[in-house]
Amino acid sequence: MPVTPQPAILQPIPQQARYLTYTLTPGANPRAALRALCSQVDGDKAVAGLGLSLVTALGRRINELRSFPEFSGQGIDIPSTPSALLLWLRGIDRGEIVNRHRGLDDLLAPAFGLTQVIDAFTYDGRARRDLTGYEDGTENPKGNKAIAAAISRRKDIAGSSFLAIQQWEHDMHRFEAMPRKEQDHTFGRRRSDNEELDNAPESAHVKRTAQENFDPEAFVVRRSMPWAEGARCGLVFTAFGASFDAYEAQLRRMTGEEDGIMDALFRFTRPLTGAYFWCPPLRGGKLDLTAVGL
Ligand code: HEM
Repeated sequence: MPVTPQPAILQPIPQQARYLTYTLTPGANPRAALRALCSQVDGDKAVAGLGLSLVTALGRRINELRSFPEFSGQGIDIPSTPSALLLWLRGIDRGEIVNRHRGLDDLLAPAFGLTQVIDAFTYDGRARRDLTGYEDGTENPKGNKAIAAAISRRKDIAGSSFLAIQQWEHDMHRFEAMPRKEQDHTFGRRRSDNEELDNAPESAHVKRTAQENFDPEAFVVRRSMPWAEGARCGLVFTAFGASFDAYEAQLRRMTGEEDGIMDALFRFTRPLTGAYFWCPPLRGGKLDLTAVGL
């Protein structure tokens, strides 16, 4: 039976989602819980990613899988907050997702303990905007280019993908206090019509991250979603790659490490978390963990 990528990687973001992270209970054997999880993960309503510590606990190694790097820029810190396991629950009904989540916690206990829950959603239907109102995902590669950017071709892990996740918290008051021109220059696009601005400063987010301006080119497939909890809000940056190299090159340029120019995004938003996961392929519609000996 052939392996296929978890389909959500190549699909638009859902209306509602929940990001769940788990740690491995000290001394616990994760195998039984993972076997049970395989039949619950269809890669569409639930996407799964394994962190380095979990793959190591299984006595295996996935070459590209590493720890999320910490970065510091001028006055900014980019934290690394690794986890053993990530589940990205997707759907259209928040209640259904909440109830599904509880079942998964029960199935994973006591080997895995829940560490974080982030509720995420779509803003403005098909436009898929960040909460600042700017459309997010415009320059995502499509079709075969998306597959080439996001899915590994390495034979032993064919169909798998590498997922970088960061929870960013926006200071919306600070952003809203900026004149519209400064807001547009922060992203390098015009909010009103999503046009890219030729005269944007070098600090503009899309100038920092322009994927074809890297050597080698650094394409990723972004599936980020807005989040909110009480009065706090931001973006769950979610990017899939055939490795972490393209993402890391982009993040490095955002911090100004190469030329001292920091991404203008840092004026109003900052990352609270950062973690890397390996997303195994599916076989027969179920999560396939043969690469890690299951
Ligand atoms: C709060 C955090 C972030 C927000 C609100 C945000 C928002 C946006 C928006 C509005 C665009 C323009 C439209 C588009 O092409 O999607 C964009 C482009 C892009 N962003 Fe972000 N982004 C964030 C963080 C990041 C991070 C951490 C990375 C990677 C390290 C990244 C990588 C990219 C890339 C690759 C593009 C397309 C650039 C191009 O080739 O034109 N973004 N982002």
